[in-house]
Amino acid sequence: MFNEFNPFNPNSIVTPTLFAGRHEQVLQILKKLAQVREGLPSSFVLQGERGIGKTALAKLILHVAEAKDPKLEKLNFLASYYSVERGQTFESVLQACLNSMTDRMPDTVLKRLTNRLGGFFKNGKFTIGAFGASATYEGLGSSTPEEALLAMKDRAVSIFSNIISGLDEVQDTKNKRDGVLLVIDEIHNLKDLSGTAQVLRAIATTLDVNQLGKISFMIIGYAEGMNHFFEGDPSARRHFDLINLAVMPRHEAKEVLIKGFTRTGLTYDENVLEKNIDVAGGYPHSIQIIGHNLVGVDENQHIDQDDWAKALRRSAIELTQKDFSEFYDFKGRGTLRETVLNLLALRGRPMTKQEIKKLSDGKNIYTETCLGALKKSGAIKETPDRTIVLHSMLFRAAILIHLYTHAQENQSYSDLIKKIKSLNNKTDSI
Ligand SMILES: Nc1ncnc2c1ncn2[C@@H]1O[C@H](COP(=O)(O)OP(=O)(O)OP(=O)(O)O)[C@@H](O)[C@H]1O
Ligand SMILES: [Mg+2]
Repeated sequence: MFNEFNPFNPNSIVTPTLFAGRHEQVLQILKKLAQVREGLPSSFVLQGERGIGKTALAKLILHVAEAKDPKLEKLNFLASYYSVERGQTFESVLQACLNSMTDRMPDTVLKRLTNRLGGFFKNGKFTIGAFGASATYEGLGSSTPEEALLAMKDRAVSIFSNIISGLDEVQDTKNKRDGVLLVIDEIHNLKDLSGTAQVLRAIATTLDVNQLGKISFMIIGYAEGMNHFFEGDPSARRHFDLINLAVMPRHEAKEVLIKGFTRTGLTYDENVLEKNIDVAGGYPHSIQIIGHNLVGVDENQHIDQDDWAKALRRSAIELTQKDFSEFYDFKGRGTLRETVLNLLALRGRPMTKQEIKKLSDGKNIYTETCLGALKKSGAIKETPDRTIVLHSMLFRAAILIHLYTHAQENQSYSDLIKKIKSLNNKTDSI
């Protein structure tokens, strides 16, 4: 009998009950939120590659921040999540975040806002500024973009001050809240991303100085976008705790699968799990694909090697169809280009050209047909410190699954896997 319920889904965000791992990051954030409750503002920048688990972590934090869980700092924030659409302005994002919270605001707060904010808060809706470039400046009675930004900041400060003061005034414990948490995802989509950190920092600092610092911003996006986010304000970086999400260590990767199996009532062969888990490379998106296929192929409520073999074949087909055909020839012709990609995938970290050369048995990788062609196709990228990385984690996942599923009939693959595994073990233990 096939399993009817599949707890794994690479295309949706994991529910808090199935969220696994990331203990260090979760603890770090929760500790800080406990301080925010005491009036010490704290903000975060959560960055990492596509599919690494940024939104999943944010979703978990949002859940815990409102859960009043005695085991998890008893947090009880007024929280909001917003995902920025391409081309949106910061002003419209801030406004939408605020508006999404009003239905959970205690009456005391709403009354205060209505009485004190005048035109900025009407019929339960906030207005931070008129939309559109020129309309914005005119709407706010300012003549330059800088003045408009300043006016927007002042409005935001006044709105947040009133929300936080209002929360402090709430008497009955049932409606009390710790402070405000705003999560803004996909920040790289902002039209006016440059310098946004400065505005957020100014808002938090002003509130702090006025002893209303119970506020936290969590900003999420790709690392490349963050330079723009911080632009123009060197101090802004210090005001954000940077959380760089990388691949999961293998015990966390295993935990993701085990949680899903347990939830479905499946048992599993521990040794088989141990033997196969590296194929996911610690990449949550890939773990979800594999988990989904494992539960999908299982027929006897027990995940064994047979299920793994079938599930990996399915995952390989799914991943290799993801448009990587220009990067990698998944037919395994054994070219030097392919060896370089295999090495990078197995090693799972940036490599210097010298290291790649050494591990490819000293072959000349510097040619137009090797590194040149790989760079041109986009399969690899050269980082500013001149190391080489693969196009993406997803691409790495496709290569890893290809290698592991063909290792049995392809001696050179199994040799390479062994060699790099032992090298990784050595470097990890240093
Ligand atoms: N800690 C975790 N436990 C279980 N599953 C996870 C975890 N982190 C991420 N996942 C799963 O991995 C997949 C990718 O995660 P997510 O969408 O959060 O990544 P992301 O970094 O936000 O990606 P993008 O940049 O594309 O928005 C999702 O299916 C998600 O549910
Ligand atoms: Mg996301």
